[in-house]
Amino acid sequence: TQTAPLAFTQHLTVNPKSAAERDAVLANPGFGDHFTDHTAVVDYKVGADGQGGWGNARVEPYGPIAMDPAAAVLHYGQEIFEGLKAYRHADGSVWSFRPEANAARFNTSARRLALPELPEETFIESLRQLVAADQDWVPSGDGEALYLRPFMIATEAFLGVRPAREVSYRVIASPAGNYFGGELQPVSIWLSTAYARAGEGGTGEAKCGGNYAASLAAQMEAEAQGCKQVLFLDPFNDNAIEELGGMNIFFVFKDGRLVTPALNGHILHGITRSSVMQLAADRGLKVQERKITIDEWREGVASGEITEAFACGTAAVITPIGELKTAEGTIASPGSGAGEVTMAIREQLLGIQTGVVEDLHGWLTRL
Ligand code: PLP
Ligand code: COI
Repeated sequence: TQTAPLAFTQHLTVNPKSAAERDAVLANPGFGDHFTDHTAVVDYKVGADGQGGWGNARVEPYGPIAMDPAAAVLHYGQEIFEGLKAYRHADGSVWSFRPEANAARFNTSARRLALPELPEETFIESLRQLVAADQDWVPSGDGEALYLRPFMIATEAFLGVRPAREVSYRVIASPAGNYFGGELQPVSIWLSTAYARAGEGGTGEAKCGGNYAASLAAQMEAEAQGCKQVLFLDPFNDNAIEELGGMNIFFVFKDGRLVTPALNGHILHGITRSSVMQLAADRGLKVQERKITIDEWREGVASGEITEAFACGTAAVITPIGELKTAEGTIASPGSGAGEVTMAIREQLLGIQTGVVEDLHGWLTRL
């Protein structure tokens, strides 16, 4: 059932960054280094009657958050987040891609981390309100967008371990180009065998900060090996491939199959992943969500059966995987690694997002 979103008040900054500063950022946005002038905020509190409620929805100047040092998020990591992008179309309008899916996933994450659910209409309204205040920050360059980062933190000052009764929801925004920097090129991935990202009954399926903190030791190993991302396996299930630190993974087979690990409770339900599966099926590829092991990847490349591999996610869009480095040798993708199927799906997805390819699935929402 649709309910009306909370009404946001706008408290705009009197001293936003200058147009010159903003233009300098937009000329080379990078990823995650620069933030817009405002933030959207909604507060949650459990009252004396035990009922929780959201209120005080507002857009305010971007800046540091004052928080009690005992705030639960600082000790027990009660936090969740989302990531999606706002795209500038040729006529100047700004659109988001399947934001209702992010809103739903946010609430799935909230339930797992014992945080309150945020009404989906208010989630989408918060994006709209922030983009309205900061619309000059939406880039229009090739492959660029305004990355939106909604998140929820437990702000109650209390050191007992229980779900916080005071919580804050916020959205920040950051102009974004290629996540991996520079022009798009195939990336090298490191296979983590020392660390797993998630396990049975854990939080792998939730988008919570702790999963990313837990991935960093493996990510450091990857970087020491000259790689950009780390691949995690399920060591209790024949070394089945799960996902990368911040992206899902796909394999293109010579015979027209597109294979991605099945959602098993440990893997993030990627919205790019589900969109890629739909676009691939539309083009006549045979999409399989199933168990795929590291041995199958190695043998499939050796026999010529697997012709392409790619990573996908909001930040990564679709990025070809050039090679997987492992302690026991490298699995190199054939050719340069930027395969034909990978690049065709990438172009179609980006085309829909940026308004140059027809949105046949109704995935865009105007902000
Ligand atoms: N897997 C992980 C661990 C992620 O952090 C992300 C990024 O959000 C994804 C997969 C891809 O999800 P989505 O396509 O919804 O951005
Ligand atoms: C995203 O793609 O939105 C993520 O959260 C992944 C992270 C690598 C930035």
